[in-house]
Amino acid sequence: MNASPTADDEKRLAAEAAAELVESGMTVGLGTGSTVAHLLPALARRGLTDLRCVATSVATEDQARSLGIPVEDFDRLQRLDIAIDGTDEVTPDGWLIKGGGGAHLREKIVAAAADRFVVIADSSKPVATFTWPIPLELFAFGLESTLVRLGDAVTLRPDMPPSPDGGLIADYRGPGREDPASLMVRLEGDPGVAAQGLFPPSLVSEIFVARGNDVERLTIG
Ligand code: 5RP
Repeated sequence: MNASPTADDEKRLAAEAAAELVESGMTVGLGTGSTVAHLLPALARRGLTDLRCVATSVATEDQARSLGIPVEDFDRLQRLDIAIDGTDEVTPDGWLIKGGGGAHLREKIVAAAADRFVVIADSSKPVATFTWPIPLELFAFGLESTLVRLGDAVTLRPDMPPSPDGGLIADYRGPGREDPASLMVRLEGDPGVAAQGLFPPSLVSEIFVARGNDVERLTIG
């Protein structure tokens, strides 16, 4: 008897389905996390040519290069054909919480630059309403003053090194997650917040959710 698929099996399945969307010659944004770690070998196995890829973290960049996937700095490409990334949670209307790995600033810039932003997820990620804290990246400049303004609901993530852009990773655990649009505006309204981990449905094209041995494809935007 076959064992039932684990969360990691589901991540691999969703990632392999999304890898099929990439064609030779495309500009591609590569996300961060354990689901994306399955995307990269699937992409490498396809043997595509003339890909131009940007990575949202050093870990992704290192893994991609080790598999022969070319990665360049994100300073010359104006648009990306596609970006593929994981998520921490996704609601039925397509809101995401991202940044469990602290890469949400670059992940959001890459998602916003992509004509098609595809989210890959195992079956634990869809939720009726958010339960995760909202990851933040805070500017190092004036950090103590930012923390005072944001109050007790925000704590720096312990033992987390600064991001590649010099920001500090923190989490918001206060009220408002049932109304992500208002919370997003409120968090982004503080000048010390470089990025927050709520991704609106307008950024998201499709969500691939693996359940058991099947991949459900939801079109959002
Ligand atoms: C990193 C992220 C990841 O996409 C998110 O944390 C999901 O990770 P995983 O694929 O390991 O479950 O936003 O900043």
